[in-house]
Amino acid sequence: MKNSFFTLILLVAFAFAMTSCKEAKKNYTCTQVSVLRVSTADGTLWLPVQESMGEARIRVIAGDEYLETIHVRLAKDSIDYFVPYEMSRWNKSNLAFEIRTFLPDTVRRDKMVCWDAITTGAADLYPLPDNPYRCAYHHTPLRGWMNDPNGMYYDDATGLWHLYYQHNPYAAMWANMHWGHSVSRDLIHWEHQPMALRPTVWGTIFSGSAVIDTKNTAGFGENVVVAIYTADGESQKQAVAYSLDGGQTFTHYEGNPVLCDTIADFRDPKVFWDTLTNRWVMVLACQQEMRFYASYDLRQWNYLSRFGEGYGCHEGVWECPDLIYLPMRNDNATQEILAEAGKWVLLCNINPGGPLGGSATQYFVGTWDGNTFTCDDKKSEKAKWLDYGKDHYATVTFHNAPDNRVVALGWMSNWQYANQLPTLQYRSQNTIARDLSLYQDDLGEYRVAVCPSRENEALIGEVANQPTQMCVIDIEVPVKEKDVVITLSNDKQEKVVMTYNFSNSTFSMDRREAGDNSFSKDFPCVAGVPLFVKRDTYRLRLFIDRCSIEAFDGNGDWAMTNLVFPTEPYNHIEAKGATAVIYSVKL
Ligand code: FRU
Repeated sequence: MKNSFFTLILLVAFAFAMTSCKEAKKNYTCTQVSVLRVSTADGTLWLPVQESMGEARIRVIAGDEYLETIHVRLAKDSIDYFVPYEMSRWNKSNLAFEIRTFLPDTVRRDKMVCWDAITTGAADLYPLPDNPYRCAYHHTPLRGWMNDPNGMYYDDATGLWHLYYQHNPYAAMWANMHWGHSVSRDLIHWEHQPMALRPTVWGTIFSGSAVIDTKNTAGFGENVVVAIYTADGESQKQAVAYSLDGGQTFTHYEGNPVLCDTIADFRDPKVFWDTLTNRWVMVLACQQEMRFYASYDLRQWNYLSRFGEGYGCHEGVWECPDLIYLPMRNDNATQEILAEAGKWVLLCNINPGGPLGGSATQYFVGTWDGNTFTCDDKKSEKAKWLDYGKDHYATVTFHNAPDNRVVALGWMSNWQYANQLPTLQYRSQNTIARDLSLYQDDLGEYRVAVCPSRENEALIGEVANQPTQMCVIDIEVPVKEKDVVITLSNDKQEKVVMTYNFSNSTFSMDRREAGDNSFSKDFPCVAGVPLFVKRDTYRLRLFIDRCSIEAFDGNGDWAMTNLVFPTEPYNHIEAKGATAVIYSVKL
């Protein structure tokens, strides 16, 4: 490694406005800008990151051609980890990196540890260390940062589920939004793919959706995958990119942007084919309302209507919408009857304003007539949440899921502390896939039923004696006078306490002593959910995967997702008054 460091063709020249280069070399405190020249033949450029630093701005240049700008928390005092910059993709023999540090003049920039540490080498020069918290059967990014799932679709031609995601390749913290890409055949094992979308002159790539254009409405070709995303630049604009190779690589549409406005928060287009009007409909998050647009060709969009004022929770910005038709929950009726009795549901992610603070997913049940969404509830009614835990956000559904299923996936984190989670080198994970349908609670209210997708059944292995870091636990809870308390714990007295409280008809999960809480004061919490349907016996299914616990009511009445960071895996469960069966997980 040292060798490759010394062979690095590195020339740091200090340019600044008021003094000459020569002086600047002696007096680094006067300058903010350094130039690094690298031969791309040397492989990958490895940049040292210190997360507590502010971002340096790096302009990538070839000769006199400007290529792109990235923002990296270059290490000043110590190095947390290295991030790779892929130089080969530019097809240039040399690159210059103009680095602006934005440090106060009193700081000795020449003493920053990054200058000696920046190196070139193989793409695997700095392999990833194992991380005890990395989920095994949930999707995680290999390196770097992830937030919202984007552009999810199922391709019936290949049997692949495609998952794109908000991604920063240059730190395990939010910045430089790209679309990362993974595919899966079973919604459990995910394979990482090359980067799908990189920032353009219009901005970084914020959240959006993808559709298979079976009828070639856009003119890019039959069955072409079309991604519609927000370009976050001078303002937020909607843009289109299309893929001629099954979602692997994308070309940005030359007519971008396709939809602009003057408001600041104007993003996260979710597009679906509306069979009522035979055209595409886009739902867009606009500050604290959702707007609807229509298009016949995915390029030209016309405003239809808006929804939101006075409805649900408004304590934060509305983001990542989805409009879906949900059939009634599976009971003894036929699928046709269940579908016939279904309703339209508008998913509306909100941040902050979630019931436990930070981000969460609310939804509205109502009707869609091809132009307007009308909510069944009254304006003043309480918000309904898709998940009652603290780590479930940006949930949207897959386009083209098989068998008319509505399959959703959420980001398993919370904006309050997502950037601080104790998993250096990568951050965040997605929930397991969930199938959505509709049911009526004891008060006759329509609610969304959330059930683990059937693909997750493949995880269920042998019956085990005690919990392990990856397991599934089924618990049967007969209703009694006394509360039923289920405690998951380890030998270090770290514990998660789940309680069925029958006097106030609630289920709760207390993670205040679950393990490492030190990274954020907002992390410890007790999540609670009303038992919307009274039953004689409740069934609870827990999916545990190292740092996550997803709790599902056995009928789908509610879901609750919480992260936990035990310093040793939980290996004990106590469930007085209930019966617990533990299954090891098959991977
Ligand atoms: C939601 C969100 C989106 C936005 C994206 C940016 O988590 O804020 O509204 O498109 O993240 O990464």
